[in-house]
Amino acid sequence: MKPMLITIDGPAGAGKTTVSRSLADRLGYTYVDTGALYRGVAHAALARGIESDDDKRLKSLMEILDLRFKLLGSEPRLFLNGVDITDGIRTPEITMMASAVSARPVVRNALFDLQRRLGDKKAAVFEGRDMGTVVFPDADVKFFLFADIRSRAKRRYEEIKGKGDHTLEQVEADMRVRDENDSTRSVAPLVAADDAVRIDSTALGIDEVIDEMLTHVRLKAS
Ligand code: DC
Repeated sequence: MKPMLITIDGPAGAGKTTVSRSLADRLGYTYVDTGALYRGVAHAALARGIESDDDKRLKSLMEILDLRFKLLGSEPRLFLNGVDITDGIRTPEITMMASAVSARPVVRNALFDLQRRLGDKKAAVFEGRDMGTVVFPDADVKFFLFADIRSRAKRRYEEIKGKGDHTLEQVEADMRVRDENDSTRSVAPLVAADDAVRIDSTALGIDEVIDEMLTHVRLKAS
């Protein structure tokens, strides 16, 4: 099978990360979590007290940021200027800041170049919001994975339960704000590419989603 570039876009909590990682594993491909890059920028901005709408400081920040993935065994870890920040980028504060900075073109443009470089060799599954529309419009296979908000909020709530005192209602309210931010921003809003395969994961298990994706990938390869 020739190496392909596969993109998986969709809103928060639709199961993108689990599905993307498993699909990459099944194919022996590299997995790239582009949301982690936006979280890395948010982490750096918060650490320096940079406001999410301060384009001047964000621009200077992007010039000195060195974000890269390294494998620890089979686990991709994110390094920011040499420091492993993987475990600190899933907090609610960073989640909301990542959504805010991702609306700024200075941030998106800098990450665009980085993501294109990471996709050079293909044989990769890229997970994000604008992979199939903006970053890799010529990807070999594109998926758009979505689900209704209640089931997405429940999934996210189960993931972060015990790591703070969040209620399901709070998680759902935050998710609505993020959905709104991500899909109404003027640059690279979250939309399905015209040629993306749309999969509704509301009533599907992870394995069913992966099986459906593999069918499309094999079809493309044949
Ligand atoms: O997938 P995630 O929740 O880790 O993404 C964090 C934020 O980054 C999310 O609010 C939207 C943004 N993002 C983006 O704008 N474009 C991408 N390709 C990936 C993430």
